[in-house]
Amino acid sequence: MTQRVFNFNPGPAALPLVVLEQVKVEMLDFQGSGMSVLEISHRSKSFENVLESAIQRVRRLLGLDDSYEVLFIQGGASLQFSMVPMNLAVAGKPVDYVNTGTWSTRAIKEARALGKEVRVVATSQEMEFTFIPEKVPLNQDASYLHITSNNTIRGTQWRSFPGPGAAPLISDMSSDIFSRRFDPRPFGLIYAGAQKNIGPAGVTLVIIRRDMLERVPKELPTMLKYTTYSENKSLYNTPPCFCIYVCELVLKWIEQTVGGLDLMEKINDEKAGMLYDFIDGQDFYRGTARPDSRSRMNVTFLLPEAELEKEFLAGAVEAGLSGLKGHRSVGGLRTSIYNAVTLEAVRALVDYMKYFAAKHG
Ligand SMILES: Cc1ncc(COP(=O)(O)O)c(C=O)c1O
Repeated sequence: MTQRVFNFNPGPAALPLVVLEQVKVEMLDFQGSGMSVLEISHRSKSFENVLESAIQRVRRLLGLDDSYEVLFIQGGASLQFSMVPMNLAVAGKPVDYVNTGTWSTRAIKEARALGKEVRVVATSQEMEFTFIPEKVPLNQDASYLHITSNNTIRGTQWRSFPGPGAAPLISDMSSDIFSRRFDPRPFGLIYAGAQKNIGPAGVTLVIIRRDMLERVPKELPTMLKYTTYSENKSLYNTPPCFCIYVCELVLKWIEQTVGGLDLMEKINDEKAGMLYDFIDGQDFYRGTARPDSRSRMNVTFLLPEAELEKEFLAGAVEAGLSGLKGHRSVGGLRTSIYNAVTLEAVRALVDYMKYFAAKHG
């Protein structure tokens, strides 16, 4: 028997056990093909079915109407930092960004590198990115307004989104897509690296409203144009077939096993609630995000002394709890409680935190 740990990694992250088991079962013979999904043609009927099913599941889960296209692109969420301004900045119209942490900062850097007129319209940088700014100007003249819905490193999350304003909203939803219900209509584009809530690293989900495709400059390189993916159903070249296959299974798990986004959100609320209630009810651990901006996906906290972190992490591993180290840029501790992390895992974590606090408090 293999021993599986409680996995709190920030990404790549825990996948639902039933998905991993199905991958294992189908590994040598995918749907009677006598080949694994790693070996079949991306032009085969079997793979086309997987891709189409993944697209339809995204549509159903998020309630997307026909005005949206669902694309699968390589290059990680980081390539979207460049593709968004390249494709969607309109000549003479500035691009607006809210800076809520490392990933927003990187998105801003790419837009600037491309020579776009970037306006940082709101930020919490001066307060160590510990909250989501309340007041975000909705400029009429902007090409778009870009936000990061969940800040994986700082443990903050937008509870409600700005607007709607005149400019389309664009969001990096890498670390909270499919964790809760939201109204997709104000969004011109949403992107998410798969490796947290959707599947393995290697593919990025891009949801784009069709009118945004009209902005794509014809002279862009083929692989950097959204139109290449939309006109070829993400099959202009060989896509990351295995990643898309696992994504389809994870989306099926959310739809059929969990029972949809409302139930997924309820479980996520319960998990995050359990951790924050515990943190708020004692004075050993200290949460780093402002309570009104706390993330339900990444819970960041500090010990009374940084010197205790090593011991905390070593003890956690011994207790079967993995992935609790804060991001290298900020230190401290972080637990990522994405969709596939179970209530049982969070309970085990709280028990360990109690034990550690009693030992040192
Ligand atoms: C919110 C967010 N955006 C972007 C990225 C970068 O993603 P990728 O490694 O797929 O480029 C990450 C990675 O953790 C992230 O959390």
